[in-house]
Amino acid sequence: MGLLKSGQCPLKDKKGKAMAEKLWGGRFAKKLDEEFYRFQQSIHYDYKLAEFDIYHSMIHISALVLTGVLTIQEANALEMDLQQILKEIKEKKFKYDPQSEDIHTEIQNRLEKKHKTAARKLHSFRSRNDQVVFDEKYYCIVNCLEIEHLLTKVLVAIFDLAKKYKDDFFIGYTHTRRAQVIKFANYILSYGRMFQRDLRRLETFSKTQEICLGAGAVAGSFIKREHYNKAIAQFIKKYGKDFPFKIALTQNSLDNVSSRDFIIELLSALAILQMHLSRLAEDFILYSGQEYNFLQLPEEFCTGSSHMPHKKNPDFLELVRGYTGPIYGNLISLLTTMKGLPMAYNRDMQLDKEPLFSSIEIVKQELRLLAKFLAGVSLKKETIEEVLTDETIYATELAEYLVSKGVTFKQAHEIIGKMVRYSEENKIKLKDMVDQILKQFSPKLQQKEIQKIFTPFFAVKTKRSVR
Ligand code: ARG
Repeated sequence: MGLLKSGQCPLKDKKGKAMAEKLWGGRFAKKLDEEFYRFQQSIHYDYKLAEFDIYHSMIHISALVLTGVLTIQEANALEMDLQQILKEIKEKKFKYDPQSEDIHTEIQNRLEKKHKTAARKLHSFRSRNDQVVFDEKYYCIVNCLEIEHLLTKVLVAIFDLAKKYKDDFFIGYTHTRRAQVIKFANYILSYGRMFQRDLRRLETFSKTQEICLGAGAVAGSFIKREHYNKAIAQFIKKYGKDFPFKIALTQNSLDNVSSRDFIIELLSALAILQMHLSRLAEDFILYSGQEYNFLQLPEEFCTGSSHMPHKKNPDFLELVRGYTGPIYGNLISLLTTMKGLPMAYNRDMQLDKEPLFSSIEIVKQELRLLAKFLAGVSLKKETIEEVLTDETIYATELAEYLVSKGVTFKQAHEIIGKMVRYSEENKIKLKDMVDQILKQFSPKLQQKEIQKIFTPFFAVKTKRSVR
């Protein structure tokens, strides 16, 4: 069997013809192992970067014109082809050749089909190493902005729930044991606060990124800084309204091609957001189950059992909780990939994409669904009212009442603790304890006086630090 011509991929079509071109190959005497070729391909996932790769090429084309490598006519021809691919992407009609090594090669090959000479000049003074980081940063910012928008919708749904049930009480738990009475709004808005902080973290990310050019493979590029700057300015002038962030020249070429902390930063923010989503999911799973029975979940988000006819399971919430595994895993995966990589670009970094895409796609889907889900959640007031008759949840207020009568809190805590034990052992309610009994615990306690304490209104009214 003859050797492949340099630049050919070892995969064959049905007629045995070598297919997609590669961007390298001249120095190789041996045919590439077919299985290895497949092993190192990334087109099946990095095609998601196509749009951003085109923007890189557009700026690069302008820079090459200024440098004198491309004529205006060649540049226009290439740009028209890129616009055509962009249109296919936007219309979701873009199809890649599965034989291509990666998306950068794919787009290069597409251009070469029509404008061979011009396209073959395009890769002058640039490398896939700087292309890939440009594309990924772009992807991160665009998707981060989208996630911010979706998270805002979840926040609106949370505020709506708080408003709808603004007068309703709820039970505050600690250690999964009934603790104190609270307002439902206080409870649900705790998630509002968490998501607001998540939003701030995401905004910090999307607002502070700089997408860089000119790093080359490692050492920088032959293109002058002023030509790059002019090319960037031309691009912004032409397409500027669509780009709310900074495109700049690299400050350090090695750092530029070899750093992935921007992805790790975004994955960290998503992991923290996911932790909050998972806690909310866990709460709602518990609170909607028969044991608590405080919440009614929207039926459209529940599923049944194939065996037990009565079941209505909270699968949406369970999957949200479950996705915490992959979302944390994606962060740890990239942290581990990057740990100990020598300067500068190493192929290990190709493995940054799947964790990134995975976390972005999962979180977007979760948020889209959660906003709809929350709109369908309702409060089961009857069960909550029943729990509100449990006197022990007013024990703290009772102790604090004694404090208002001059007893030290430590003493008051002891007194009420003993009363609760007495109540359990003698099967008598705190409320029903007559003055004769109360006197044994504290002379400051009178049955008539303390009745008001066993109401949610009193409990909540005395919490002056919260609204
Ligand atoms: N597919 C590669 C990646 O994602 C692109 C960069 C390739 N660079 C190289 N030197 N082989 O990392």
